[in-house]
Amino acid sequence: MIDYLESALGKVINKIQGRDYEQGDVLRASRKRLKQFREHLTVGDRTLEIGTGSGVIAKIALEKGAKELVAVDINPAAVAEAKRLLPQATVLESDLFEKVQGVFDTIIFAPPWSEGEIEDYFDHAIYDCGVVGRFLQEATTYLAPHGRIWIQYSDESATNHQRFLRDLTDNGYRVEQSWSYLDWAILTGVHANIILYEIAPAPVVGETSQG
Ligand SMILES: C[S@@+](CC[C@H](N)C(=O)[O-])C[C@H]1O[C@@H](n2cnc3c(N)ncnc32)[C@H](O)[C@@H]1O
Repeated sequence: MIDYLESALGKVINKIQGRDYEQGDVLRASRKRLKQFREHLTVGDRTLEIGTGSGVIAKIALEKGAKELVAVDINPAAVAEAKRLLPQATVLESDLFEKVQGVFDTIIFAPPWSEGEIEDYFDHAIYDCGVVGRFLQEATTYLAPHGRIWIQYSDESATNHQRFLRDLTDNGYRVEQSWSYLDWAILTGVHANIILYEIAPAPVVGETSQG
C-alpha cells in the first residue's frame, strides 16, 4: 500500500514537473544522501569534488577537515551556487578534470546514474551517458599515492550499475568499503539502493605494502 502511494505520488510530481526543468537548475542532494556522506566520508588534506552541484558535499568535506578544496561542475548555474556556499574553496566550471591541476588525497563524485539523454545542463545531474566511466579512466592521474575515491552510485538502472562495476575493475580499482540504503527515487518513481563506495587503485600483482 505504501509502495503504491509512493509510486502514485511520484507520478503526480513527475507530471507537475514534466520535462520543464529550467535551464540552469541545480540538483540538490536529499538529506539521506548527505547523511551517508556525513556518516562515512573521510578526507585527506587536499580534496577535490567533481560534480559539486550546490556544493553541499564539498562543504561536508571541509567540515571533516579538508584543508584545501577544489570543486568543479559542468553546469554554470551549479558553479555560481557552489561559489556562494564555498567562499574558501576553488570552484571551477569544468568537464570532469579538464580545468583541474595537481593531485588530491581525496576525490569525491556523486554522479548521475539514470538512463536517458542529455538535452540541457540540468540533465548532467540525472543521466549517466558514460560520464562515470570517463571519470574512472581519468581519476588515477589526479589521485595521490594512497589516495581514495568516493563515489555515490545507485542500482536504479541495473544496466548502468553493472557498467559502473565493470568500469571499476577494468580501470584497475578495487572497492575498499561500501555502504547502502534503500530509497525511493522521486524523479523515476522506483525503489533503489543508494550506495557509497570508497575505492582505491588495486595493487599491481606482485606489489607488496612496502612497495
Ligand atoms: C547527481 S548531481 C550531484 C550534485 C551534488 N554533488 C550533490 O550531491 O548534491 C551530479 C552533478 O555532476 C555534475 N556533472 C555531470 N557531468 C559532469 C561532468 N562531465 N563534469 C563536471 N560535472 C559534471 C552535474 O552537473 C551535477 O551537478
